[in-house]
Amino acid sequence: MKFPLLVSLFASVLNLSSETGYEAWLRYAPITDPAIRQRYDALPAVVVVAGDSPVLEAAREELVRGVRGCLGRILRSTVSLPPENAIVLGTFDALDRRFPGLGAAPYSTPDSFSLKTVKANGRTHLLITGPNDRGVLYGAFALLRRMAGHEPIARLDLRESPYAPVRFLNHWDNLNGTIERGYAGKSISWENDRILEDLGRVRDYARLMASVGINGCSINNVNADARVITPSYLAQVARVADVFRPWGVRLLISLDFASPRKIGGIDTFDPLDPRAVEFWGKKVDEIYRAIPDLGGFVLKADSEGRLGPSEYGRTHADAANAVARALEPHAGLLFYRGFVYNHRLDWRDPKLDRAKAAYDNFHMLDGQFADNVLIQIKNGPIDFQVREPPSPLFGGLENTSQAIELQITQEYLGQQRHLCFLVPMWKETLDFDLHVHGANTPVKQLVAGKIFHRPAGGFVGVSNVGRDTNWLGHPLAMANLYGFGRLAWNPDLGSRQIAQEWTRLTFGHEPRVVATVVDMLLASWPAYENYTGPLGAGTLTDIINIHYGPAVESSEYNGWGQWHRADAKGIGMNRTVANGTGFIGQYAPPVALKYESLKTCPDELLLFMHHAPYAHVLHSGKTVIQHIYDSHYQGADQAARFVEQWKSLEGRMDEGRYQETLARLEYQAGHARVWRDAIVSWFLKKSGIPDQLGRAGHFPHRVEAEAMELYGYSVIDITPWEAASGGRAVQVSSPGRRGSVRFRYAGPPGWQDLSVQYFDENDGASQYQLFVAGQRVDGWAANDTLPSRLPDAHTSTRHTVCGLALRPGDEIRIEAVAQGGENACLDYVEIEPCPPARRSR
Ligand code: GCU
Repeated sequence: MKFPLLVSLFASVLNLSSETGYEAWLRYAPITDPAIRQRYDALPAVVVVAGDSPVLEAAREELVRGVRGCLGRILRSTVSLPPENAIVLGTFDALDRRFPGLGAAPYSTPDSFSLKTVKANGRTHLLITGPNDRGVLYGAFALLRRMAGHEPIARLDLRESPYAPVRFLNHWDNLNGTIERGYAGKSISWENDRILEDLGRVRDYARLMASVGINGCSINNVNADARVITPSYLAQVARVADVFRPWGVRLLISLDFASPRKIGGIDTFDPLDPRAVEFWGKKVDEIYRAIPDLGGFVLKADSEGRLGPSEYGRTHADAANAVARALEPHAGLLFYRGFVYNHRLDWRDPKLDRAKAAYDNFHMLDGQFADNVLIQIKNGPIDFQVREPPSPLFGGLENTSQAIELQITQEYLGQQRHLCFLVPMWKETLDFDLHVHGANTPVKQLVAGKIFHRPAGGFVGVSNVGRDTNWLGHPLAMANLYGFGRLAWNPDLGSRQIAQEWTRLTFGHEPRVVATVVDMLLASWPAYENYTGPLGAGTLTDIINIHYGPAVESSEYNGWGQWHRADAKGIGMNRTVANGTGFIGQYAPPVALKYESLKTCPDELLLFMHHAPYAHVLHSGKTVIQHIYDSHYQGADQAARFVEQWKSLEGRMDEGRYQETLARLEYQAGHARVWRDAIVSWFLKKSGIPDQLGRAGHFPHRVEAEAMELYGYSVIDITPWEAASGGRAVQVSSPGRRGSVRFRYAGPPGWQDLSVQYFDENDGASQYQLFVAGQRVDGWAANDTLPSRLPDAHTSTRHTVCGLALRPGDEIRIEAVAQGGENACLDYVEIEPCPPARRSR
């Protein structure tokens, strides 16, 4: 018994060398446990490839790489069948031609694969086949996923087909290298209006995409720059397509609909004007000469200030078809975005409703779009909020193809500074039965084109990976990219299964690590929802610009239409048919009836569908206001628990990713409190209804900075007021840009944790030092790059020093040096007893 223990100890030590996350889920970590290794003893030593396309070559290389990583064996490559067992790669046709009689049973769905162990001439071969090269590549990845997942591979007989033909990613990269709603560094493709010279990262990204079955990717912002399809750019963009190609990923381009006028030398972009039609015809031919296998285009028109067909009184179908007809001879697809709404709505009109826009704009055009047009529809009717019902438009198109758009980049969901695993949220939409014509019609089947037998359909994810080494910034955020790919391949997979797969591939198989990370992932969306947005009202974030920290009123009194209508008496959008905006009437009757009635509307969407008084009693038995208080405290507690859960994994994974994740989780726990306090304070003030548990508005452990003795500091108001405790903070105001604040500790003697709430703007790196009874106990720099240059809800940050032995009367002093545009702002100090577990350590 002792020996295996030693081996596994040794193995875990070996695996602890620091990792950066760059390899993501394709680490192919060495399998050191002899019992597991034994599962792969029979793996042939030779790989034979029937064919010589770049995609097959990528499949072969990947197999060699993966087997070498997992088992330390280097497969031999040949082109003819050797007199020994072999792994044989090739399409069904090629295998039939080259090695007749091996017995791979073909089937035809493009991109599908089969892994099959066969016996022939006394040998045992492992066939990796598919109807096309891409299918073979996916088969190779599937075999390696099984191996890296420690699953047996003997006597395989496995077939998989993708759920839908479209499994694409969109990037919102600008040509200058910035990324709209990107939170992990600059573009991996673009810089200074050029495609990067070194496309090594793009190649590695394409490999990641292929490994989960993603077969198309657009590389420029939907808010497109018309220049992207001019000759000098096309030549560059074609280089990216070349890098994608061996991985079976087709490139797509986002278009500016006004291109005929902006770059075409004509004075119109009217889709019915023959000159514009001619422009698109010629331009598309030119593009296909540069990129013969282009997947097609993405088009955002008449939305958020983008020019579109309305300029000429034309419809979206006119616009889409003008481009789609030019694409047709090349078998290209046009993804016409359903995200069309008027962002100058009159907020005073209670009948107006942005949620209705997509359906209103596109339902009436159903059947008028060319067959190669897909309407690309965001999962919810508003815009990637933490809780939305499915867009009714999924049920409103029967004669038009569609694709669902899901957002991997966490724009409204914590911007990868907060952990938020989105697969459970996406699955709620995908599994939702819209009951079109009363039938069983879940969204996943509608978007895949299965219900109305559409020629195209599927899944699009807004990815926005960047140049941060680990691709998405937060080490755990890659679970969302992986999860998107897996769901696009098979939306019937469960959230837990996807979380488990990803965790094993990313962090290894140590049971405690797997159980803990999976738990955290699955708890993270509910936690985020709890501390940010109640009962479907929306995230209550600053919706005007940054979409990150709390700013309850920013949704109101403007034309953007993300209203929650909270006032002194109640909150929520009345979207009923009876006396509201009528949005609910866009659903089929079984769904509409459920949402229309307060009796059956689920709590989590109550405020999306109804305006309810704060005293309204939910199905849970709580009032709306008490739910708001409770959920925000609960959510912030959950975020704090993530830190403790993660800490229990110390020493069980590599130090690099452990520390990086810990730092993000600690930050999140602090920012979750900012959220909690802002929302709870705002609703307490607005409603005047106290928290039954007495927490809201009571901070017994807190000393406000404005109540301390100030030296070189002065008091300022914070906007919005709920972003700071008591609405105010202090900032360094001395000419020397140094200051200090101090107060005497008045609590009981004992071990305490002391937290300093300060504002870490992105326009400076102020220095802070903390002194207790004259002794310096800590120092830190406010040098994060949070998304604001002001002291506000986006920059409010918590720094905690644990385990201080405080005595009543001790002087607590913070000394600060302001730097850059930042004024070393402080909000408050909070001193709370150390949790007993930590005290006894
Ligand atoms: C959101 C996002 C924008 C983006 C838009 C879109 O509104 O904030 O940055 O351009 O969606 O999807 O087109």
